[in-house]
Amino acid sequence: MADDDPGLPPTVDPFVPHVARVWNVQLGGKDNFAVDRAAARALNEAYARVGAPGGDAVAVENRRFIGRAVRYLAGEAGIDQFLDIGSGLPSQGNVHEVAREVNPAARTVYVDNDPLVLTHGRVLLADDDTSIIVNRDMYDPGSILDDPDLRAMIDLDRPVAVLIVAMLHLIPDAARPEAIVAHIRDALAPGSYLALTHTTSEHRPEAAAALAQEFTRLGINTPMVPRSVEQISRFFAGFDLVEPGLISPAAWRPELTPAPAPAPVPDTRWMLAGVGCLSEVSRP
Ligand SMILES: C[S@@+](CC[C@H](N)C(=O)[O-])C[C@H]1O[C@@H](n2cnc3c(N)ncnc32)[C@H](O)[C@@H]1O
Repeated sequence: MADDDPGLPPTVDPFVPHVARVWNVQLGGKDNFAVDRAAARALNEAYARVGAPGGDAVAVENRRFIGRAVRYLAGEAGIDQFLDIGSGLPSQGNVHEVAREVNPAARTVYVDNDPLVLTHGRVLLADDDTSIIVNRDMYDPGSILDDPDLRAMIDLDRPVAVLIVAMLHLIPDAARPEAIVAHIRDALAPGSYLALTHTTSEHRPEAAAALAQEFTRLGINTPMVPRSVEQISRFFAGFDLVEPGLISPAAWRPELTPAPAPAPVPDTRWMLAGVGCLSEVSRP
């Protein structure tokens, strides 16, 4: 996109790199500005300096996890309501599309606070009766759960799959991300699910710290907070992790990859992925 496009909504700032748009660059998308492309390039260079596969591989691997997790949730788990928080710019294999391939009755609510994500999402879903995007902030989970459009689309008295994918590492400890997730969990019916991915400091703590510093240096609109396995596991308090547990995104149920198999990306070891089920027994 051009920085001086006269059609840009006034809330879109093309001169500060935004995480949604940098992620879009990494996924090979076109909904980004020069500043986002420069940031994505710098992140890839930072990955290369620590001898790790770049951000592009991380993003692709993560996106493929979303597809497999939704296929599992809409299929084997029997879920027909999806809440995708920090949904990002529309991409290949959006949650509502994958869910509906498995269950045509699936309903999806996307939540994001990025103006460009909201603009593109609203265009994509304009004629869609069972998928919407709402402008809400993860820092205020109550406002997400009380959103009237969300309530009209999703029945919180029935099981819902909540996806918070490549998103919780954008929330610093000071904002108490565990409490945010717990707030959402407490509004869910038994039989609901949580699917997430999170950047980890577990395998390469120094490299993870360097990545976080690069986010700050580049002035990206959110911080990056890699966390340990133990810290990431705590987001699943009250949920029983389904097999194979908290694991590299590429290793999470690879058999759910649709044919033809896509070209492999290197296992980046930067992320962990998991899916948990909320049972009456495990609820804290
Ligand atoms: C790295 S992208 C991940 C997109 C998608 N979940 C995926 O995994 O491909 C993170 C998304 O979270 C959104 N986001 C960041 N902070 C947010 C907040 N406080 N409330 C709502 N959305 C937020 C960003 O705008 C962006 O679209």
